[in-house]
Amino acid sequence: RNLKRQTMCRGDINRLNAAFLAIYDSLIPADEEKAKQKQLLTVLEKLVSKEWPEARLYLYGSCANSFDFSKSDIDVCLVMEAGNSDKSEVLLKLADILQADNLQNVQALTRARVPIVKLMDPVTGISGDICMNNVLAVVNTKLLRDYAHIDVRLRQLAFIVKHWAKSRGVNETYHGTLSSYAYVLMCINFLQQRRPAILPCLQGMDITYSVTIDNVECAYFDQVEKLRDFGSRNRESIAQLVWAFFHYWAYCHDYANDVISVRTGCTLSKRAKDWTRRIGNDRHLICIEDPFELSHDLGRVVDKGPLDLLSVPTATCIHGHAADFIKRLQQVHSTTH
Ligand code: CTP
Ligand code: MG
Repeated sequence: RNLKRQTMCRGDINRLNAAFLAIYDSLIPADEEKAKQKQLLTVLEKLVSKEWPEARLYLYGSCANSFDFSKSDIDVCLVMEAGNSDKSEVLLKLADILQADNLQNVQALTRARVPIVKLMDPVTGISGDICMNNVLAVVNTKLLRDYAHIDVRLRQLAFIVKHWAKSRGVNETYHGTLSSYAYVLMCINFLQQRRPAILPCLQGMDITYSVTIDNVECAYFDQVEKLRDFGSRNRESIAQLVWAFFHYWAYCHDYANDVISVRTGCTLSKRAKDWTRRIGNDRHLICIEDPFELSHDLGRVVDKGPLDLLSVPTATCIHGHAADFIKRLQQVHSTTH
């Protein structure tokens, strides 16, 4: 009887695995789309270097960290010495250059928290944002991409989690919920803490890559091709991991006292970071340490609504929707028994 039960559970898991992998496959951008992104970057590089020969363009965000869905916008970072001109002047000039080259929907948002120029390329149909000198974002993009190369289950899990967050409307920092970047860090931290671990803690290993940006030292082990077998002792499937991910963030993480930390591969105490009280708009309800900018709490955007943790949108979604999700899985489970 037990054996039969076990077989049926395995059948359920297999069905769920197939369903998750089908979602994952349907969201992966096609090779032609990645080629078009490169083509657009080349066009932009030519335009930029005519005006500023020393300037460089880098892709960052999901289009460069391997967590992008098909039809995503691209994020580009312009890196250059601005000399006497300020960021706004450079971005306004850049907007003029792009407009003159027939790029469409060009808009310089110079007053945004991160000033950008928005554009749409009518040739490839790709839209994008260009920011300036946000080099830390280029480096944290590399860190996420390096983690993704270690075990494919990170990319699979992050796709499902991002897909869930976007479908649920809980991936909007303007509305008090978490960024995609924060969700991916939660996936990495979760996989670092599986037993056996599926991901290592790259910042706790020998340093093979090191840069200092704005006085922030970014150093870690980046020879990830040597870590391809790292997670092989853990045989958990994507269905088991999705379940465990929501279960962990719904019931196991101590939101009141702990900080999610990819840098250390575990959790830290809020007290050690002095993230125990509200300062300005930073409420530090859900704390996620940026892997490099250690004073940056990516959960601080979760600041809407009354102070009660459970009425904060993201917290509600992580607790409530994950519980819903688990109930759904349980229903699937019981109907097949
Ligand atoms: N970023 C950051 N600090 C934040 C938010 C974002 O440094 N608080 C940087 C990261 O480099 C991140 C990039 O900005 O990769 C884009 O952030 P986000 O839009 O959240 O992530 P994407 O991976 O681009 O997700 P999406 O596919 O939803 O656009
Ligand atoms: Mg993005």
